[in-house]
Amino acid sequence: EKGGYDYFMLKEIAEQPKAVADTLLGRIDRAGELTLDEVRIPDSVLREVDKVVIVACGTAYHAGMIAKYAIEHWTRIPCETELASEFRYRDPILDSRTLVIAVSQSGETMDTLMALRHAREQGARVLAICNTNGSTIPRESDAVLYTHAGPEVAVASTKAFLTQLVACYLVALYLGQVRGTKWGDEIGELVRELSEASAWVEDVLGTMEPVRELARGLADRNTVLFLGRHVGFPVALEGALKLKELAYMHAEGFAAGELKHGPIALIEEGVPVVVVVPSPRGRSVLHDKIVSNIQEIRARGALTIVVAERGDTAVVPYADHLVEVPETPTLLQPLVATVPLQVFACELATARGNEVDQPRNLAKSVTVE
Ligand code: M6R
Repeated sequence: EKGGYDYFMLKEIAEQPKAVADTLLGRIDRAGELTLDEVRIPDSVLREVDKVVIVACGTAYHAGMIAKYAIEHWTRIPCETELASEFRYRDPILDSRTLVIAVSQSGETMDTLMALRHAREQGARVLAICNTNGSTIPRESDAVLYTHAGPEVAVASTKAFLTQLVACYLVALYLGQVRGTKWGDEIGELVRELSEASAWVEDVLGTMEPVRELARGLADRNTVLFLGRHVGFPVALEGALKLKELAYMHAEGFAAGELKHGPIALIEEGVPVVVVVPSPRGRSVLHDKIVSNIQEIRARGALTIVVAERGDTAVVPYADHLVEVPETPTLLQPLVATVPLQVFACELATARGNEVDQPRNLAKSVTVE
């Protein structure tokens, strides 16, 4: 049932183009408008929403962090993303104009379930983004937008993550569409670009052999650091989480701008640092800043592994290893930038002789708080 792959994780990584396409299927009509019929929250309610709060755990939380950038930029609705396990204990401010989005692959994560119960008790509307039909989280929510990743068996989440991103983008764009925000004109173009996502993922998957080779060469290291800015920051966190859970290595993700506030002290000769470079399109300041971050760490001896858009020549002089990803709009880049980090972690785990699909101490769904 592993379809010829050694591990479910490899199979699930390879299934990502289909998972992404399936999650988009039927949700964009011929005129390029979004039709999220399953979202049973009436448009009139969505127009009144004055705050979005996203709750999730682990990888789903990273998808939620990326969604915050998209929702705020495309809709101008204030949005916060919070770890479900922290959410209710700080007495969050919620009311009937708050839209809470609970993101969960399994639909059974206890922390996320408790967070959404708390939100509903306060009168907030809850929309679940979930991969498992009929599971508890969608059953207890006001509405659900299912991701169509298919069953995910490997403990480390891969295809579910990409489909969570797609679903988050769809919700963000849908909010923009029903509210007719100032980004309204852009929405059509973004929907068109999003519909190419499956091809981008296919493209990046076809170029992963050098990443595998690089991972094998780093199998005896103790630490790998990950840096990103903007939506590249949650991607860095996701890359580090994958490496922890699969390779049992010390891995940390940082916002690149925080380097000089502490983490740069960790940089020493030969330490591998993966840097996620935002696509240069329309974001040149952001891009320039990360290029100087790469220079800074390289000057201190870091082995730089740079994930950047194809044709981004500015990073080439500072990249010990360059991993190219297809051209995308900046906010959609996590769909492609995450893939090499999944492959990297999987290959490192294999090289270290670890059990890829069933990492030690972890369970696929965490049904206790
Ligand atoms: O089923 P969920 O999406 O609610 O699970 C949340 C986390 O437990 C999950 O993403 C976990 O972090 C994964 N093992 C990461 O690969």
